[in-house]
Amino acid sequence: MTRYRDFHRRSIDAPAEFWRAEATRIHWETPFHTVLDASRPPFTRWFVGGRTNLCHNALDRHLATRGQQDALVSVSTETGIERRFTYAELYDEVNRMAAVMRSLGVARGERVLIYLPMIPEAVFAVLACARLGAIHSVVFGGFAAASLAARIDDAKPALIVTADAGARGGKVIDYTPLVDEALARAEHKTARVLLIDRQLAPERLSASYLVAYEPLREQYFNAHVPCEWLESNESSYVLYTSGTTGRPKGVQRDVGGYAVALAASMEYIFEGRAGDTMFTASDIGWVVGHSYIIYAPLIAGLTTVLYEGTPVRPDGGIWWRLVEQHKINLMFTSPTALRVLKKQDPALMKAADLSSLRALFLAGEPLDEPTAAWIQDALGKPVVDNYWQTETGWPIIAIQRGVEALPPKLGSPGVPVYGYNLAIRDAGSGERCGPGEKGVVTLGYPLPPGCMTTVWGDDKRFVDTYWSEMAGEPVYSTFDWGIQDDDGYVSILGRTDDVINVASHRFGTREIEEALSSHAAVAEVAVVGVADAVKGQVPLAFVVLRDAQAAAAPDDRSKLEAALLATVDRYLGAVGRPARVHFVAMLPKTRSGKLLRRAIAALAEGRDPGDLPTIEDPAALQILRSVLEGG
Ligand code: PRX
Repeated sequence: MTRYRDFHRRSIDAPAEFWRAEATRIHWETPFHTVLDASRPPFTRWFVGGRTNLCHNALDRHLATRGQQDALVSVSTETGIERRFTYAELYDEVNRMAAVMRSLGVARGERVLIYLPMIPEAVFAVLACARLGAIHSVVFGGFAAASLAARIDDAKPALIVTADAGARGGKVIDYTPLVDEALARAEHKTARVLLIDRQLAPERLSASYLVAYEPLREQYFNAHVPCEWLESNESSYVLYTSGTTGRPKGVQRDVGGYAVALAASMEYIFEGRAGDTMFTASDIGWVVGHSYIIYAPLIAGLTTVLYEGTPVRPDGGIWWRLVEQHKINLMFTSPTALRVLKKQDPALMKAADLSSLRALFLAGEPLDEPTAAWIQDALGKPVVDNYWQTETGWPIIAIQRGVEALPPKLGSPGVPVYGYNLAIRDAGSGERCGPGEKGVVTLGYPLPPGCMTTVWGDDKRFVDTYWSEMAGEPVYSTFDWGIQDDDGYVSILGRTDDVINVASHRFGTREIEEALSSHAAVAEVAVVGVADAVKGQVPLAFVVLRDAQAAAAPDDRSKLEAALLATVDRYLGAVGRPARVHFVAMLPKTRSGKLLRRAIAALAEGRDPGDLPTIEDPAALQILRSVLEGG
């Protein structure tokens, strides 16, 4: 363990020296004058004065040496279309897209909201923004109109880029009616919507702001758009994520620190080398997609595989066949996807030649031991669990095989990653917990490069949400419970707040509650996450109706349940849809009116709710029990 320990120690004791050395991994148009500015805690600035560009580092820099190597391989099992782009071709496409965006008035510092399915144009759009110095905000295609509208109002984009439709599991999902509705709901009026026409669905955007991409692409076919050299601490993107309130937080990221952190992670954590092929089965709307579908593999000179579809169509062997066909070296997905694959015929996996694969990476939610044991055994290659958050942009806890291949321990993603001064602390006192003691996973100041710089447009919210003063120092809370053993391995024991994790998708229960509350029949609602064998957690809703009689008959109940679920689909998106809606006469609350979500979740999982604060009306618990027993 000494190599890892020394490496980690150095990164914490002398962060400026440590990261100065790592910064040579990327191109700096102008060198930085200060590695680390920690003069204004909890804010951090890395590589101050240095000027660089993420798109240059992802593309231009590789043209001379790997122009003819594939940069992007896009596979859609929904449309049956496969498209490949060498670094030179991807460079051309990104320039075209950048020229089109520029012609529509997009300039440095302006926001571009990207609402696209998993198509190459999504990668073009992200990199085109980076090229122009515009700030992209990618919104997951599974989100519906109200979520989209909230993000439009917060980011105030100059342009929205969308497509006619996405597709999943053989179902076409029309995007344009959602965008139209979102724009009607939003207060911020975006002048232009750039539409990528996949010819999957009729587009139904209002003509007043619709701009078709294809003719403009033709017009700017030979365009070259120079990279804007940004100061390292300017913003590269805003990515919204869920918290305890219904209002999503815009996680803001820098340019230089992010590029350096990703480049270093490719060596020390992922062991990805230039020329390798990496398949990250996530979505560009999530942080894993930003970091490990788009930026990190390209910055490090790899070929990245973009996949539209599910892991089980046309059959459960599709991902393993992709590994064989594309000689994939690194694969990255979520425990939920593995639990789905585990249920498939094992012959499908055995039939594929997986000899190219060196390691499988998993993140986004706890990796349960049976799934971990199964995949270790079935694959016979290193399986690397890694724990992090949208806020950090890259792993916080992992076995860093490129530093030292420590033995994995079931139930733990590994040890703290270099750069992160991780401590398990008592939730009340803030004191450090001893080995084996449960506490909150916290990170010391300063956070390493690549982590969020602030909440978009709201420094106060950044400070108030994440940072508190503990033992006289600023401390960042991950809002996860954890426990660290004598060897330094950390296990994650679930969130401390009302955030739930459904199939690796992060949701605030408040967001789902707000969606349900928008239905006229609903008086009160509580949403909790309960354990699920495949998705990790699923949301369950408990609803008090304005008119209790409305759900008296079983028929009325199921009709109303369907109507409420449809409301969530329309408002938030089907990804946030509760597994069930239970109708109850009242909800358990404290005397001061706070919902006892934890008690509700415990009952729903058949656990003892334990010690409870004084309940306003204890009958509420009995009501819940009988409803849950009734099914
Ligand atoms: O609760 C932790 C869980 O997912 C949260 C972060 O989700 P998100 O912002 O979507 O970022 C995902 C980036 C991989 C964390 O606060 N989580 C993430 N990875 C793990 C995990 N829980 C346990 N084990 C993990 N490997």
